[in-house]
Amino acid sequence: MRKITIAIDGFSSTGKSTVAKELARFLGYIYVDSGAMYRAVTLFAMEEGYINEDNFDVKGLILNLNTIEISFALNQDTQIADVYLNSINVEKKIRTLEVSNFVSQVAAVSEVRSMLVKQQQKMGEEKGVVMDGRDIGTVVFPNAELKIFMTASAEKRAQRRYNELIDRGDNVDYQAVLKNIQERDYIDSHRADSPLIKANDAIEIDNSDMTLDEQFQKVLQLTLKTLKDLE
Ligand code: DC
Repeated sequence: MRKITIAIDGFSSTGKSTVAKELARFLGYIYVDSGAMYRAVTLFAMEEGYINEDNFDVKGLILNLNTIEISFALNQDTQIADVYLNSINVEKKIRTLEVSNFVSQVAAVSEVRSMLVKQQQKMGEEKGVVMDGRDIGTVVFPNAELKIFMTASAEKRAQRRYNELIDRGDNVDYQAVLKNIQERDYIDSHRADSPLIKANDAIEIDNSDMTLDEQFQKVLQLTLKTLKDLE
């Protein structure tokens, strides 16, 4: 069967990645979490001292982007690809609230975006890919055969994210998670380079009141319809 490119964009913590992973597994496609790549660059910037609470040395980060190598490798336990920063598995480290607090600033840097977009386009060259992010349907794969735009209320998203962090054993406060989500929504949709916007041909799904299974079924149905229309 013909392979297609599926772009899933939307605000943070809308459950994009859960649905995208499940869909990729079902179709036997590659799944790429583009947010993990922005998070890995952010972790690099934090560890190397280019970004902290008081300062962001954008020039320093840009000058050192060529020392960053991001890759993915399958985790045998989860059967999902973990992200590596310069050969070190950083899957757990990139999911902390600290990284979340800085990632939108790093993702607003054009040089960071162009480096990662090139890499993402290469990963999707052969099609048969489900990629989630903010600019996949608008910038990375403007010709994707299927584009989905996920939304949900900020409160619902904060509650989901809070539950995830607590389940992982992180000590976080719901209000801090909500604040982070609202700030990221604002920065991600107002930045000059590739802001988060719905592509004209994307299908919007508001999943505020949907279960994960309902979301998956909806996306699967759209995928099967797209494949059928292309026959
Ligand atoms: O999907 P996520 O929450 O892990 O993404 C982390 C951040 O990375 C998000 O706040 C915005 C940025 N991002 C982006 O700018 N473009 C993408 N394609 C993916 C993520």
